[in-house]
Amino acid sequence: MTWLVVTFKMVHVAALMVWCAGLVLLPLALSLHTATPNQQRFNRVRLLTHVAYTQIVTPAAVIAVGAGLLLLFLLGVFEPWFGAKLLAVSLLVVCHAWAGHQVSQIAERRGCYEGAFGVRAALGNVAVMIGILVLVLWKPEIPEEVMPDWLRSPYGARLWVDDPS
Ligand code: HEM
Repeated sequence: MTWLVVTFKMVHVAALMVWCAGLVLLPLALSLHTATPNQQRFNRVRLLTHVAYTQIVTPAAVIAVGAGLLLLFLLGVFEPWFGAKLLAVSLLVVCHAWAGHQVSQIAERRGCYEGAFGVRAALGNVAVMIGILVLVLWKPEIPEEVMPDWLRSPYGARLWVDDPS
């Protein structure tokens, strides 16, 4: 079992390094795009951002989340700090979707799209990543009472895992 945990943790960390690097570099690459590009520059930025998003950053995100979910069930980390981490990860997924939207805007609104928020978007993404890293490395004691009742009451349904309490 330990080797499985070690393997999935290595895959998780390696994939999220690629994912996070992509979420920093993509907004910066998008900001290279100007409203009136010449054909060569348009081709370069369009190809770079499209290939990076669809063939590198998105697959890395899927692998990072998949390996993370496997780790969750292997280690049984059903604690409040982990709920907070998942909330922060959902924010990162929103940043990822926004980057994808910007990539498609270059193609669909050629001539009137201006590369949006380059450095500010990259810094925003970094802030979310730091938040996740603080949660996962510090694992703060968050009292269960901060969660609403409906998240703490059993529904009598069968769980896929052993009872975490
Ligand atoms: C749905 C997405 C994710 C899930 C389900 C998930 C799940 C997990 C689990 C279960 C662990 C093992 C925790 C432990 O050993 O106690 C872990 C470790 C880790 N995760 Fe994630 N994770 C996700 C996304 C992320 C993201 C986006 C980041 C960073 C930006 C991240 C950073 C880390 C790090 C650095 C570790 C190693 C922590 C350690 O060994 O102490 N994870 N993750």
